[in-house]
Amino acid sequence: MIGIFDSGFGGLTIFKSIEKKLPNYDYIYLGDNARAPYGNHSQSVIYQYTKEAVDYLFAQGCSLIILACNTASAEALRKIQQEHLPQKHKNKNVLGVIRPLAEAASELTKNNIVAVMGTRSTVESGAYTRELKEQSLPRGKTGKKIKVVQEACPLLVPLIEESMEKTPAAKMILKKYIRPLKSSHPDTVILGCTHYGWMQRDIQKYFGQKTKVLYSGEITATKLAEYLAKHPEYSHTQAKGKRLFLTTDNSDRFDAAAKKFLGRTIKSKKIDLT
Ligand code: DGL
Repeated sequence: MIGIFDSGFGGLTIFKSIEKKLPNYDYIYLGDNARAPYGNHSQSVIYQYTKEAVDYLFAQGCSLIILACNTASAEALRKIQQEHLPQKHKNKNVLGVIRPLAEAASELTKNNIVAVMGTRSTVESGAYTRELKEQSLPRGKTGKKIKVVQEACPLLVPLIEESMEKTPAAKMILKKYIRPLKSSHPDTVILGCTHYGWMQRDIQKYFGQKTKVLYSGEITATKLAEYLAKHPEYSHTQAKGKRLFLTTDNSDRFDAAAKKFLGRTIKSKKIDLT
C-alpha cells in the first residue's frame, strides 16, 4: 500500500496524476486539514506534524509514503529519511516532490536560470536551491551550475482554495509575485506548491511562452513509476486498486473540495493524528 500525504486538499492533484499512471496500487490519501495550511509554519512544527502523519500511514500498512506537499517535503523529508526512518521504520521509505522537480528543471534549463515559486516555508527552507545546486556536484545528474531565484507567494493558496484564482485580484497578486522573478530571465519555472497548477496558464502567460513552467503532478508520477520499477519490494501483486481518503478535519468539507482537486466524488473519513 502506498501512502500519499499532504497538508490538505492540494495533494489530491498530485494523487490524480499518480493514480492515472499507476492505477493498480492500493493507496491511502491523508490530508492534515485540521492543521493546514503548513506554508507559514516553522520547520520544527512542520517536521512534527509530518512525522505524526508518516507514523500513522505506516501503522495503517503503508510501506512507501509520498509527501505530495512541497512544504512538508522541503521542511521535513530529509530529517525523516536521515533520522526517523532508521530509528523507527527500517525497510520503509518516504519520498517527496522536491527532487523530481529539481531534476526535471535541471535537465530542461538551457540558460541555467531557474525560478521557484512556493509557500513562505518552502522558499525559506532553501530546499529547491539545495537540490538544484546538487545537480552540479559530481554525483548530480546534469553537472549544470544553476542560478536559482525564488519568490514566496503566500496569498495564492487561500485564493485558489476560495476558487478565486480567475479573479482580477488574483491575477494582480500573481503578477506582483512574478515581476521580480521575471527580471532574472529564467527559462524554467518550478511551481513549488500543490495548488499552483490552478494558475499555471496565467503563470505561463506572464513569463512568456518560451519559458518552461513545471508542475509536480506528472513529474512526480513519472519518477515514482521509475522508482517502483527499480524497487520490486513495493510490488503491487497483492494490490486490489483500493482507495482510502482520510482527513483530520470535517470530512464533508474534504469531499466537497475533492471535487475540485481530484475531479470526482469521494467519501472520506475523519481521523485524529494527535
Ligand atoms: N500543500 C502545500 C504545499 O504544497 C500548500 C498548502 C499549505 O501551505 O499547506 O506547499
